[in-house]
Amino acid sequence: MITSSDALLQQAAQQRQPVLAERLVAWQGREGRHHLPWQQTRDPYRVWLSEIMLQQTQVATVLGYYGRFLQRFPTVADLAAAPLDEVLAMWSGLGYYSRARNLHRCAQAVVADHGGRFPGTAAELQTLPGIGPSTAAAVAAFCFGERISILDGNVKRVLARVLGWEGDLSVAAHERALWQAAQAVLPVRGEDMPSYTQGLMDLGATLCTPRKPACLMCPWTELCAAREAGDTERLPVKTRKLKRGTREHWWLWLVRQAPSGEQVWLEQLPDTGVWAGLWTLPLLDDEAALTALLGAPHAAALEPQPRLKHVLTHLDWWLHPRRLVLTDAQAEALTPTLATRHAEGGEPAGGRIVTQDGRWVAVDDLAAWGLPAPVRKLLQP
Ligand code: ADE
Repeated sequence: MITSSDALLQQAAQQRQPVLAERLVAWQGREGRHHLPWQQTRDPYRVWLSEIMLQQTQVATVLGYYGRFLQRFPTVADLAAAPLDEVLAMWSGLGYYSRARNLHRCAQAVVADHGGRFPGTAAELQTLPGIGPSTAAAVAAFCFGERISILDGNVKRVLARVLGWEGDLSVAAHERALWQAAQAVLPVRGEDMPSYTQGLMDLGATLCTPRKPACLMCPWTELCAAREAGDTERLPVKTRKLKRGTREHWWLWLVRQAPSGEQVWLEQLPDTGVWAGLWTLPLLDDEAALTALLGAPHAAALEPQPRLKHVLTHLDWWLHPRRLVLTDAQAEALTPTLATRHAEGGEPAGGRIVTQDGRWVAVDDLAAWGLPAPVRKLLQP
């Protein structure tokens, strides 16, 4: 049955307990993923790191970062003691850099407030920077066998379908009801929590996909209310969808032919927002802002480069690189203008994103700088 009644949802959960969990645990053992590096440990530091990396990044990408990150920061104390710049540089390319800042703050809180050991319950984990309810539940379930349900986007879909829940998940009360139902179908034994939790993730990632779910292969197919009603693709219901926007910037790529070798002008973004604290080429609103900054003769010599699209969760960001090679003397003459990022009176200078610092950086040294992936790709192809 498909329902938006809270009482019927809880009933659907109780009716399927304990069979739902038993089948999922057995299926995870047979068909699920077992060889991911963060599955080979119960160390909360390692599991927490993987969960933060996996929040907005694909498994395949995370695999390239996880081992390297742990090599550089083997314990939470090493991470806490490291300079933030180094953490950001290790994160460079994973995107959503507020995660890296919170990661660093969280490590420092674990050291300062918990004696260097992660607390052992989801409730306590949630008090730490950057750890939300679902991440706290994942760490507690994987490392401590706590009977608590994760509820990320994939899991909401899987559970809304199997339990036939058409309550609108944009409404907090309906989401709470689903979480209550999720708690009611957990395995009885805490020791089954790691494979159950991994099973929920695996099911959402591989079979119970948003479109064309592979119901014939699903361990829950006979228990699934949405499948019985022929309604899988309609669930879960979420009326307030994320509206995607677009944004556009011109990207000033200045190359300086210094006696010591080639340099580029980079600017450090503020500590909040997309790419917080990372180094980028100057970002300008339009061509007119470029002309205002450089003067007409330089502006006329800019070489347009193919535009790039950088996709964020809430918008498509179009970047238009404009390249200009300067002699050492030309660069020297332009530096004071570039270094002034505020107009008189402290207002941001017209048409240019305000940054906290700006420098000429040797192209050969770029590997050591915290650059967002698109900047690195452009400068170090
Ligand atoms: N996404 C979030 N957590 C994950 C995990 N432990 N394994 C695979 N994908 C995930």
